[in-house]
Amino acid sequence: MSTVTIRPMRDEDVPAVQEIDRLAFPVPWPPSAYPHELHHSPHSHLWVAELEGQVVGFAVLWLIVDEAHIATIAVHPDFRRQGIARQLMETLLAAARQHQARLATLEVRASNTAAQALYQQYGFQVVGRRPKYYTDNHEDALIMTVMLDKEEGASHDA
Ligand SMILES: CC(C)(COP(=O)(O)OP(=O)(O)OC[C@H]1O[C@@H](n2cnc3c(N)ncnc32)[C@H](O)[C@@H]1OP(=O)(O)O)[C@@H](O)C(=O)NCCC(=O)NCCS
Repeated sequence: MSTVTIRPMRDEDVPAVQEIDRLAFPVPWPPSAYPHELHHSPHSHLWVAELEGQVVGFAVLWLIVDEAHIATIAVHPDFRRQGIARQLMETLLAAARQHQARLATLEVRASNTAAQALYQQYGFQVVGRRPKYYTDNHEDALIMTVMLDKEEGASHDA
């Protein structure tokens, strides 16, 4: 069976990342966003999931003081439900713990039950709502947060 590798994003990954972004989100990040995040944003940490040389997923984490903000995470539609997002999440949360982040937080569309289920596996809970947060359809964002303790591992098997 082929193995998925999670590794830091590089410049040459950006076109594949942008393609997945376009397939995954109604409003993808602007073209300049990933180069900017890679080179001009000291708080940003970017990873890709690679399978047999192909970029099949990616994630971006912002580490600011003691908070870890999951800025984006996506998997190519052809490679979903194989645990790739889980591998990305484990990498993000390990990095957050390594940087002594106290909590991890994110926004998710209220209708995005797939992503919410993923986050719940890692102990994220809904702590707030941003009404009409998304500009395309004025959908609410749910704010989900998990406190990061010092213990290794996630709660997804619980
Ligand atoms: C959300 C997303 C990243 C999940 O990627 P994935 O690689 O398919 O997820 P995994 O296979 O690692 O699944 C992990 C868990 O997430 C949940 N999950 C993932 N897809 C799901 C779906 N379609 N329906 C319900 N639960 C789902 C499940 O709890 C799953 O665990 P299980 O397979 O043991 O049931 C992917 O669907 C995606 O890219 N969506 C579009 C972008 C997006 O919404 N990103 C999040 C923005 S906040």
